[in-house]
Amino acid sequence: MEIIKSVKQLQQTAEQLRQTGKRIGFVPTMGFLHEGHQALMEKARNENDILIVSIFVNPLQFGPGEDFDTYPRDEERDVQIAKDKQVDILFLPETEDMYPDEQAITMRVVRRVDVLCGKSREGHFDGVVAVLTKLFHLAQPHRVYFGMKDAQQVAVVDALVKDFNFPLEIVPVATVREEDGLAKSSRNVYLSNQERKEAKEIYQALLHGKQLIVDGEKNPSTIVKEVEDFINKRTHGKIDYVELLTYPELNTTTVICRQVILAAAVHFEKARLIDNLVFDQS
Ligand code: PAJ
Repeated sequence: MEIIKSVKQLQQTAEQLRQTGKRIGFVPTMGFLHEGHQALMEKARNENDILIVSIFVNPLQFGPGEDFDTYPRDEERDVQIAKDKQVDILFLPETEDMYPDEQAITMRVVRRVDVLCGKSREGHFDGVVAVLTKLFHLAQPHRVYFGMKDAQQVAVVDALVKDFNFPLEIVPVATVREEDGLAKSSRNVYLSNQERKEAKEIYQALLHGKQLIVDGEKNPSTIVKEVEDFINKRTHGKIDYVELLTYPELNTTTVICRQVILAAAVHFEKARLIDNLVFDQS
């Protein structure tokens, strides 16, 4: 495995690989790698000649008061995991190399962001599309792998790729969960023992909501209310949102139709957890 730290060097290496006809799979991450990230790497490893993984905690996508400074980091462990997962190139850039100058041009996402995490994390997706635009130009991948755990991110990146004609394919990967159903997340380490026990109820609440729909419930606000009650009864967390929307457009829907997303975000003491179910309703 080659570790590349320089932006220029990654771009040159990717260019050479493309010239020799290699198919490049790319997994962008912020590190503290867990089984969710590893599932993306495994799929990308199987489907491409070359696997590039990036680890970069992108300051642009954290708002004031969010956890940029305390975001968990463990480079040594991440390097070992990447080796185990047969990564060819691990890209570990420095912030100064990624953002040497103050941005002269910013990107602003105007659709698919006034709901879910976009609503409570203003500017977050602007930062995500900015860093991904740079990373796509550097790694020059044919396929890029994203987890459905962050389903809104997948929807926004899907729009980014279409709107700006990036010559690459977005590959969504199913959410990897703990045995009790809690979605794996780098932020789970911040849960207290009691919170960790309660956190599994978020997924159970979403399953309960889905079951209501399967059983014929057609009123989105009834479903949302039921999911909220489920979480409030079983956890001490503070609900940020529970929403039922069309997917990937993320529009509100009065009649449940086609593909929908049922999603929740819950604040615990030191961690905000998100989870969702995307399913077909035809
Ligand atoms: P990060 O939170 O590190 O996640 C990297 C990728 O791993 C994302 O595509 C995310 O959806 C996926 N992932 C995280 N937990 C997962 C789980 N339990 N199951 C399946 N996939 C999971 O998302 C980001 O970083 C950043 O926003 C990034 C795209 C790297 C841009 O900075």
